[in-house]
Amino acid sequence: MSLALGIDVSTTATKAVVVDRAGAVRGIGISEYAVATPRPSWSEQDPALWWDATCRAVPSALGQAGVDAAAVSAIGLTGQMHGAVLLDERGEALRPAILWNDQRTAAECDLIRERIGIERLVAITGNDALTGFTAPKLLWVQRHEPATWDRVAHVLLPKDYVRYRLTGDFALDRADGAGTQLFDLAARDWSPEILAALEIDPALMPPTHEGPEVTGVVGRVAAEACGLAPGTPVVAGGGDQSANAVGLGAAGPGVVALSLGTSGVVFAATDRPLSDPLGRVHAFCHAVPGRWHMMSVMLSAAGSLRWFRDALAPGMPFSQLTGDAAEVPAGSGGLQFLPYLSGERNPHPDPSARGAFVGLTLQHDRRHMVRAVLEGVAYGLRDGLELMLAAGTARPDQVRVSGGGTASAPWRQILADVLDVEIATVHTTEGAAYGAALLGAVGAGWFGSVDAAVEALVRASPTESPGADAAVYAAAYPGFRGLYPALAPAFRALAAGSTEAAPHMG
Ligand code: XUL
Repeated sequence: MSLALGIDVSTTATKAVVVDRAGAVRGIGISEYAVATPRPSWSEQDPALWWDATCRAVPSALGQAGVDAAAVSAIGLTGQMHGAVLLDERGEALRPAILWNDQRTAAECDLIRERIGIERLVAITGNDALTGFTAPKLLWVQRHEPATWDRVAHVLLPKDYVRYRLTGDFALDRADGAGTQLFDLAARDWSPEILAALEIDPALMPPTHEGPEVTGVVGRVAAEACGLAPGTPVVAGGGDQSANAVGLGAAGPGVVALSLGTSGVVFAATDRPLSDPLGRVHAFCHAVPGRWHMMSVMLSAAGSLRWFRDALAPGMPFSQLTGDAAEVPAGSGGLQFLPYLSGERNPHPDPSARGAFVGLTLQHDRRHMVRAVLEGVAYGLRDGLELMLAAGTARPDQVRVSGGGTASAPWRQILADVLDVEIATVHTTEGAAYGAALLGAVGAGWFGSVDAAVEALVRASPTESPGADAAVYAAAYPGFRGLYPALAPAFRALAAGSTEAAPHMG
């Protein structure tokens, strides 16, 4: 038997997934860890946690599959994006890794814009400076911990620390590379201009590879530590969003990936580098060779529904909440909800943005409020999709959904109607780890391309199509779009008077 192993080094756990040649998941292993918050708005993890968790998750996945390590043809890595792992010349971590959702770098983002100019920054990297990206984190260490910075010999992303421990190689895929904001998006590699402007020695940055390329093989000591066979090839893989998209079959233009977890993501693959001139949605390389993607990240998607349930209907099952909401007509009787409960990232990169119900009357009850939440999240995701379409991405034929929120059929129907597109689910819910395994399968030579792997292994089932309510939402959407600009000054004033900072990036 031959198998592909996907390893996802996420923020909360490392997950290993064993996939067979027919695309079936044969075993899953998960090992959890915590995020450290040494100061408010900081978010850090000791890289050793990821390696220890890998050494627990991999044997548990292989054990569940009931297979020998020798059956693994290749390993694909994925994980949390935008982190900064700093190693000295012996490969030892110099400080805890600074994670994607860390908020300490507002001043460094201003400095990046000042040094490079926002237009040039977006022209080269595809993105405006955001606190969560790797680039401002490196500047922060330069400015605040110069003695540490002086000793940095290698900068890695979280999953690439696990790669280093597995194979001894310093390497990075291009999807995660673009997420550092140190990449030339079109060239798919480090930007000499950005590195020079930020005074980062290019020698610190690892070589970059396309997602299915083999970057090294598992060494003897690592093999023993995590129950793998020495010599097993490891492919570059991809950041979690691009690997998740591969797992859903969103490898090329036309199929959009949408996830409704705590945060919500709309992801569209492109065959050329596209970006929003103001950087309001992200533009990165895809884990698929020679492809790019645009992406919009909403911070509180299913998180908005959870908030509503916990605050106003504690203990009520989500299925009952959304089922009841489906009893009231589309448009929620004129009630609108803005889902910016944790500030927002795309398309309004505004830490002071806030949630709001607008238009409440005596006629509204809980059902209207829940429906307004479901609709407001869908409109917010449409905001991101509209900017991507304006930048030149293909209008999707199908949106493939994942994440807890998409278990709700009423919510999926609202998405179909608001986005005016067919919604589909796929045969697996293993997300990024599954996509990483598919990249491994391509690296192992099972398939000639990621497209061929996706075509053969990812099975999508259409679940909802746009119906009569699409016209209601098309009429109501401009009203939603007008609310953020109208309320932004009030949000800023409220945030200025509050002591609690909302996260910008995550
Ligand atoms: C993507 C992003 C998150 C992190 C953590 O831009 O910030 O998906 O990678 O999962």
